Amino acid sequence: MTPFMTRILPSLPLRSAITLHITGTKRHNGRVADSAVDSKARLAAPVKLDDFEPAARALLPQSIYDYIAGGSEDEAALRGNREAFARYRFRFKILTSAERPDLGSEVLGQRFQMPVHLAPTAIQRMAHQDGEAAAYRAATDAGIAYCLSTLSSVSIEDVAAAATGTRWFQLYMHPERAVSASFVERAVDAGYSAIVLTVDLPQAGRRERDVRNAFSLPAGVHYANLDGRRSQATAAGPDPFAQNVNAQTNPALGWSDLEWLIGKTSLPVIVKGVVRADDARQAVEAGARGLIVSNHGGRQLDYAIASLDALPEVVQAAGGTVPVLLDGGVRRGTDILKALCLGASGVLIGRPYLYALAVGGADGVGMMLAMLRDEIELSMSLLGARRLSELSQDLLVRI
Ligand code: FNR
Repeated sequence: MTPFMTRILPSLPLRSAITLHITGTKRHNGRVADSAVDSKARLAAPVKLDDFEPAARALLPQSIYDYIAGGSEDEAALRGNREAFARYRFRFKILTSAERPDLGSEVLGQRFQMPVHLAPTAIQRMAHQDGEAAAYRAATDAGIAYCLSTLSSVSIEDVAAAATGTRWFQLYMHPERAVSASFVERAVDAGYSAIVLTVDLPQAGRRERDVRNAFSLPAGVHYANLDGRRSQATAAGPDPFAQNVNAQTNPALGWSDLEWLIGKTSLPVIVKGVVRADDARQAVEAGARGLIVSNHGGRQLDYAIASLDALPEVVQAAGGTVPVLLDGGVRRGTDILKALCLGASGVLIGRPYLYALAVGGADGVGMMLAMLRDEIELSMSLLGARRLSELSQDLLVRI
């Protein structure tokens, strides 16, 4: 076994526990339900990120799986994020003695163990009863940042109490500024170190899987940061979930909202959902301290440009003044290296950690992050890069 393999393979009890979960029964919200999983769903222990998806699918109710997995309309943007990574190949260097690459990275003055962070995703108790608290614990153990969604199912304060690592708060600008202001104040009081303003969702995209499933919040899960009246999804109509999200977001979101937020808080504001150079420049001029190149994992405007394809122009526009992160379709260590070669300071991942959470709670997410870390290390070594600062466009070719 190579040194990398020994690190990829987690301890036997966890692998067995996860395999047991997968081959056992379908459950909902962390509780085991009666319906037996078809024998075809019996799966081996995961060895790569994509293995968590079928494992989670076997466990979760179809409508929850579809909510996580789906994109908007034709799901072209969702597929496009993955396809963009495949268009790049490495021009690897030889004889560089890069046997132990250093994955240490820095964003906004904070040091991280690797250039990977957990993206904000809503209502994680749908995947596992410990929800956001478990994902945050795993991020802390791995030495990376966790970004909590406005629409979380564990509150800003309860997540903060669950671990000690870097936590960022993602803000959906509410139609009433006072509500947004109170989220920001709570995040400051609870020790979050950045506000991530998501700007690609003035209203929810059309996710047709959710329309077909008439998806709404599962019983027992609620928006933990909202007050009683707003925290339950009670909307009736063809797409109750989207209706409910739309009640929490400002459809007229504009530059004045970003300026208001930057003026309101002393925390650094990172803008999430940037894909153009002109927008990147304007955000930085307005005072944004970081940018996340993202199309919301293909869940908003369909046929949106792939995140990786948008990255170079945003990096160039930022001109090294603020960190540029990327999310969307990151599934491999090599994907992360490609994004860093194109100038990203780091990446965020969404769906894979929700699947890992569903399968194994905090341990599942930890196992997934360990896999990713090993993949980055091995690929960096084979690429001939000893530290992240050695990653550059010179190591890539677009085919
Ligand atoms: C999201 N995403 C998201 N983004 C955000 O700013 N606030 C949110 O509440 C959510 N919620 C959410 C739920 C689910 C189920 C998914 C899959 C995604 C988008 C997320 O932060 C990120 O941009 C994408 O998930 C990245 O793409 P991948 O890694 O899922 O391909």
